[in-house]
Amino acid sequence: MPGAFLITGGTPLSGTVRVAGSKNAALPMMAAALLTDEPVVLDGVPRLTDVATLCRVLGELGVEAAWDGAGSGPSRALRLQVLDRSAVRARYALVRRMRASFCVLGPLLARRGKAVVSLPGGCRIGPRPVDLHLKGLAALGAELTLAHGYVIARAKRLRGAAIDLSGPAGPTVTGTANVLSAAVLARGETLLRGAAGEPEIVDLGRLLCRMGARIDGLGTSTVRVRGVDGLGGARHRIIPDRIEAATLALAAVATGGTAAVTGVVPGHLAAVLDRLAGAGVDLSSGADWIRLGAPRPPRPCAIAAEPYPGIPSDVQAQWTALMSVASGRSVVRDRVFPQRFAHVAELVRLGARIERIPGAAVVDGVAGLSGATVTASDLRASAALVVAGLAARGKTRVENVHWLDRGYEALDRKLTGLGAAIKRAEAGVLAQA
Ligand code: EPZ
Repeated sequence: MPGAFLITGGTPLSGTVRVAGSKNAALPMMAAALLTDEPVVLDGVPRLTDVATLCRVLGELGVEAAWDGAGSGPSRALRLQVLDRSAVRARYALVRRMRASFCVLGPLLARRGKAVVSLPGGCRIGPRPVDLHLKGLAALGAELTLAHGYVIARAKRLRGAAIDLSGPAGPTVTGTANVLSAAVLARGETLLRGAAGEPEIVDLGRLLCRMGARIDGLGTSTVRVRGVDGLGGARHRIIPDRIEAATLALAAVATGGTAAVTGVVPGHLAAVLDRLAGAGVDLSSGADWIRLGAPRPPRPCAIAAEPYPGIPSDVQAQWTALMSVASGRSVVRDRVFPQRFAHVAELVRLGARIERIPGAAVVDGVAGLSGATVTASDLRASAALVVAGLAARGKTRVENVHWLDRGYEALDRKLTGLGAAIKRAEAGVLAQA
């Protein structure tokens, strides 16, 4: 459903908001359910369209997915169980909708000996190749062919290998997930160099260990896997969504508000909190919460998005929005996806002064943004438009918010809880507006 958010900006956010479980941890873990016939139960999975899309992909691969428990909140669990191992194909129509579906490739190949998975194709945040995923699986002994837009992978039994997964922009997150989830069932030892150390990968590794895998070095760039013959079921609570937490924090700061964000791991947000302190934000944190009091306006503070533990690329757009109302010039760089700046043109419609240079945006903070109609183009660009709309004077309409529903659970309700004036208009209403 396209739909829109109608925001009346200018109100400082205040109150407490709780984040959901991590989308980018949940997706590869859901794919890991393919590795065993026993149930895998994931606690705290967010209700998102991306999760629903992967449930469909897994459903076509013989996996039953069922939500345990009613309502919302951190107690919800997703139970996944393989009922039929005959299918090996993930179709274009679904993989095109969500690139993370490509994460079924490694587990499918390792467990079923064959996988036929559509290449994900183009992406709005810039080139997103999968060569490193394929290189890793080939090193594990997979025979790979490309035909009619599909990767066809075959291997009777994968065998451990030394693999360097680092690419031109650093490690690959879902590539590490794919190769790690295959190596756990390979014969012998695998040494992954240049592995991603993102908390989502560490969390995936923890789930795999609970299922019986033997993995050392999680969270570092060198991960050692000793292959096992089979894996069993497991129950695991996924980590909080650090990107949702950062988005809510930046929204509060952009409005000059004061808010507590709970259910978080503050350590996962260290780089973001460090830059918020640089922007003059008053910060405190406890075991699972952070509290922010924003100056008005924030001080300009440059960032460069980098692999973990750096500032996440998934926060770059929202930071650009925040810096649009800062008291001076800042440069916002993205070293992970240097072309991920589709939000800039829309922020300019809200009155931001931003110039694009290669791999970065030069943002000259303005005294105030003014509400306008803007169009979301990808998940985090959409989040940036909401952050800016909340800070802007007057009414902002963010169109195409189906992008937000892919990655944020009930964002409008959470922001309303912080005092924001934000409403969802369904597609029909939008058409008449
Ligand atoms: C993951 O994407 C996330 N997605 C992205 O979040 C996130 O922006 C990204 O990591 C970076 O943190 C999920 O976890 C589902 P990469 P992924 O492979 O794994 C290059 C969101 O909004 N590369 O780590 O696809 C690539 O071009 C999404 O939630 C290769 O060269 O990203 C990029 O420059 C968007 N060859 C860099 O590596 C490859 O085979 C990092 O990409 C793979 C990647």
